[in-house]
Amino acid sequence: MLHDDLKSVLLTEEEIRTRVAELAAMMDSACAAAEQPPLMIGVLKGSFMFIADLIRALKTECAVDFMAVSSYGAKSETSGQVRILKDIGENIEGRDVIVIEDILDSGITLRYILDLLNARRPKSVKLCALLDKPARRKVPVEAQFIGFSIPDEFVVGYGLDYAEKYRGLPYIGVLKPSVYME
Ligand code: XMP
Ligand code: MG
Repeated sequence: MLHDDLKSVLLTEEEIRTRVAELAAMMDSACAAAEQPPLMIGVLKGSFMFIADLIRALKTECAVDFMAVSSYGAKSETSGQVRILKDIGENIEGRDVIVIEDILDSGITLRYILDLLNARRPKSVKLCALLDKPARRKVPVEAQFIGFSIPDEFVVGYGLDYAEKYRGLPYIGVLKPSVYME
């Protein structure tokens, strides 16, 4: 049943599951020649459900770590200021890293994270974003793995929140503008 605060379902559970399996297969191929397991870095909190499903669908052995950044507060627009709230615990020098993010929007958050990780001299850094809003890009960011390109609407569910709500919805839906314009 559609949550009262949503105007529509953008991606159903089934569509997400199918695409996550495809992304995992693409990653398995990309990692086939690697000598050591890649490190998956989930960007908290929005990617927690995606990374959990993704690594279960992956055949490749991988290590997992998390970082948390904040650029939003309770607003639906980026402030442009990125803050590290929690850093990874792993040394990534010489390692293959894949950053797992829920959504690529302006690109400001991911540009910051990718620059930070690259400065630590990993062997490679790839980016996987479940969702991409290309119309919103302000800084260039290249993602090797994209789940879905979506229109410029605020979406929630499957880990994504608005003011910490809706993360547990198993599908991704479009929030009614009245909910965030109050
Ligand atoms: P930037 O603009 O830096 O933003 O690419 C990426 C982060 O912004 C959040 N974001 C959203 N969160 N629904 C959400 O729940 C959205 O439609 C949305 N657009 C951007 C998200 O936390 C992401 O990590
Ligand atoms: Mg958020």
